[in-house]
Amino acid sequence: MRRRRGLRLNSIIGDGSWKEEIIQVISRVAPSRATVLLCGESGTGKELVARAIHANSPRRGQAFVGVACAALPRDLLESELFGYEKGAFTGAVGQKPGRFELADRGTIFLDEIGDLSLDLQVKLLRVLQEREFERIGGTRSIKVDVRVLAATNRNLDVAVAQGRFREDLYYRLRVIEIHLPPLRERREDISLLAEHFLNKFKRENGKHLRHISTAAMRTLSSYSWPGNIRELENAIEHAVVMADPEATVLEPEFLPLPMNKGRKRSASPSQKQRKRRAGVSEKA
Ligand SMILES: Nc1ncnc2c1ncn2[C@@H]1O[C@H](COP(=O)(O)OP(=O)(O)OP(=O)(O)O)[C@@H](O)[C@H]1O
Ligand SMILES: [Mg+2]
Repeated sequence: MRRRRGLRLNSIIGDGSWKEEIIQVISRVAPSRATVLLCGESGTGKELVARAIHANSPRRGQAFVGVACAALPRDLLESELFGYEKGAFTGAVGQKPGRFELADRGTIFLDEIGDLSLDLQVKLLRVLQEREFERIGGTRSIKVDVRVLAATNRNLDVAVAQGRFREDLYYRLRVIEIHLPPLRERREDISLLAEHFLNKFKRENGKHLRHISTAAMRTLSSYSWPGNIRELENAIEHAVVMADPEATVLEPEFLPLPMNKGRKRSASPSQKQRKRRAGVSEKA
């Protein structure tokens, strides 16, 4: 228990056994330098957990450098990761260190690793194995002490079977594998998360909302959440912003459309509610 108090894991919200389990995994994994592969659908908390691992590691005072591997074209990604020497290519007017150098003694977070091209996978494997690389256009080997965390929302088993992801890299990355479940498989956490986001956004927006009505909670609990926790966070922000300035209870009609579509029309909405819904739907 004493150790856990120092872990600063308050930002991870969850109920009972799931929270226990994830805290235990983070507390075991954080002190090591082992590579961790975080898997899970979009919005399930992969980056949140990666940051928690870094924040609880001996590297916490050093950089946490994120790289969105899917966001950059191949050549740009290569120069972002490994840097370049002056004159390495047209436009390389000066020398530039890459993210691996910037993360030296800290942590690098390779997001959407499943989108990395095969030739960059080879380069990454070398950094993982030998902890050294050359800048583009350079001949000098640069040694770095970097802890690698990677994330994917793709099924890498399938990518390996299809020859799109190197098996050796896959095994090297998943020394520790953490699977973040979709929100529809942890429905018991929806109310806790929703209350957490309500408190966050009511402060940000200066609203008086004190709690979520039973009907609104029922709507939240029965929705499928394809966008997972990020979608829930956005839905609560939407509801808080759209709520009447004086409202103290978050009602279902403040929620954005997708989850309201599945609602049973048990009570006929008042004229005021109908108008309000129409207003919400125009902007949703
Ligand atoms: N257990 C949790 N408790 C509180 N907030 C959470 C939790 N999990 C995720 N979040 C919040 O949900 C949002 C999405 O989380 P995050 O960015 O970590 O997801 P992700 O898995 O990296 O998504 P993507 O694959 O789309 O990049 C963030 O704002 C994060 O703070
Ligand atoms: Mg992410």
